[in-house]
Amino acid sequence: VPSCSLLTICNQVNQVKRRCQVFSLFTGVFSGSKLKERRIFMNDWSQAIRVAQETREHAYVPYSEFKVGAAIKFTHSDTITGGCNVENGYYGATICAERGAIMKAIAEEGAGKLEYVVVVTDTEEPVSPCGVCQQVIGEFASNETRILMITLKGKKLEIKFSDLQPHLFRLTDHQH
Ligand code: THU
Repeated sequence: VPSCSLLTICNQVNQVKRRCQVFSLFTGVFSGSKLKERRIFMNDWSQAIRVAQETREHAYVPYSEFKVGAAIKFTHSDTITGGCNVENGYYGATICAERGAIMKAIAEEGAGKLEYVVVVTDTEEPVSPCGVCQQVIGEFASNETRILMITLKGKKLEIKFSDLQPHLFRLTDHQH
């Protein structure tokens, strides 16, 4: 076989390989389970981020002007629930976006284990849930619960809840 046609064959094989890779990215057909998982995982986040961003627009923040959006999902449900912060003239009565989302989801579909919590802010750095929200998230968190903090510009930090809050107060740990 002349070397130039060998090159052509190699090029064609590589082209087919590349097309298969692109195809597999969209379908997961030729991919290993790892790639498939990542594909599903990426889709999950994009939907949840969109819900958090859209809900953030409803934030009622006449005092701080600091809008926060959240999105949560319980493992027993397919619904992604959004929340936004709602402030009050008595500052202590303010409800954060994360707690708002959790209360709304429980009212609509009952309590369960949290799959994830997404927090969206218009800041330079991703914003962590406040201490009170961490306590409430912890009530419904498992070892698998993930927290995604993301800015409107897309800077993000993903962490397992147990790494964010390893020493949570749980009343049940102290009752006999
Ligand atoms: N806020 C949230 O909604 N979530 C957080 O995790 C941090 C703080 C809100 C509460 C208040 O309306 C504003 O951000 C400023 O503290």
